[in-house]
Amino acid sequence: MVSNNTAVMDIKEKPGIIRSIVCDRARSPLSRILSLSKDAATHSSTSSECVASVMSQTKDAPASALGVLVKAEGLVKVYRRGAEEIRALDGVNVRVQQGEFVCLLGHSGAGKTTTLNLFGLMDRPSDGELTVAGHAISGADVSFLPEAKLDMIRRENIGFIFQQFYLMPTLSATENVDMPLLWSGKSDVERSRALLERVGLGHRMTHRPAELSGGEQQRVAVARALINEPKLLLADEPTGNLDTRTRDAIFDLFGELNKEGLAIVLATHDTEIARRVDTVIHLQEGRIVD
Ligand SMILES: Nc1ncnc2c1ncn2[C@@H]1O[C@H](COP(=O)(O)OP(=O)(O)O)[C@@H](O)[C@H]1O
Ligand SMILES: [Mg+2]
Repeated sequence: MVSNNTAVMDIKEKPGIIRSIVCDRARSPLSRILSLSKDAATHSSTSSECVASVMSQTKDAPASALGVLVKAEGLVKVYRRGAEEIRALDGVNVRVQQGEFVCLLGHSGAGKTTTLNLFGLMDRPSDGELTVAGHAISGADVSFLPEAKLDMIRRENIGFIFQQFYLMPTLSATENVDMPLLWSGKSDVERSRALLERVGLGHRMTHRPAELSGGEQQRVAVARALINEPKLLLADEPTGNLDTRTRDAIFDLFGELNKEGLAIVLATHDTEIARRVDTVIHLQEGRIVD
């Protein structure tokens, strides 16, 4: 059997594998998990060098922003496909406070994923004001932030969870959790193990995704999302692939993390989930409805 450390070294020696996956789709789930832009992935510099280059520009959030993690006013997102224009978000106002649990509730096509992509700095608004963790991202008099700076803000503040767990099939649970750190050259296997303990998977650390149940795979994904100590967790239909009992267990885990101070924005069409959170934002055709 290959030991954890050997396997981690193995990936380290093959950064091209990770890079090629990331480059494949600049906005793929994996690139979000690794907090990478296409630029950061394709440039010959390591991502830690890329991070260092923007360090000086990215200081702590101003005091005025404390308490509010996301502030969106009149947020608009228009997708253009040739001559076709799709107004996916049409003037959305949202505030997410530190430690708040918010549910974005809506049918398919309502604009939930689009909202999470904007909050997670994976896409830029077409119009409106957006501030994330005290950083003005868009709005009047807001200068255009380079991708590397968005990566930095994302890495320091945001974790992502998806309906499909997007675990690397050839890596163990521990290595999957460690992957974002590994990518930045700061692998911390002990911390990855501690997070797996935290999500109740202390007994599954060397298992690969195919050797885990759906609920267990999502727990690995939750642990991975926590590796950078985010303030905000963005979860896109995180229980959509799970049976009711497993859904409830994963939701309970979110509840515990939220009680520990983590703000969560969870997108779902599941009204049962929505009943259990602080704030429900009901989206319909890109607008908030009552
Ligand atoms: N990249 C894109 N290009 C064009 N249209 C898109 C794109 N992403 C989403 N849309 C459209 O925007 C609308 C909102 O989509 P989305 O935010 O994914 O909704 P939800 O997550 O609530 O199902 C839908 O009509 C969808 O077809
Ligand atoms: Mg969606």
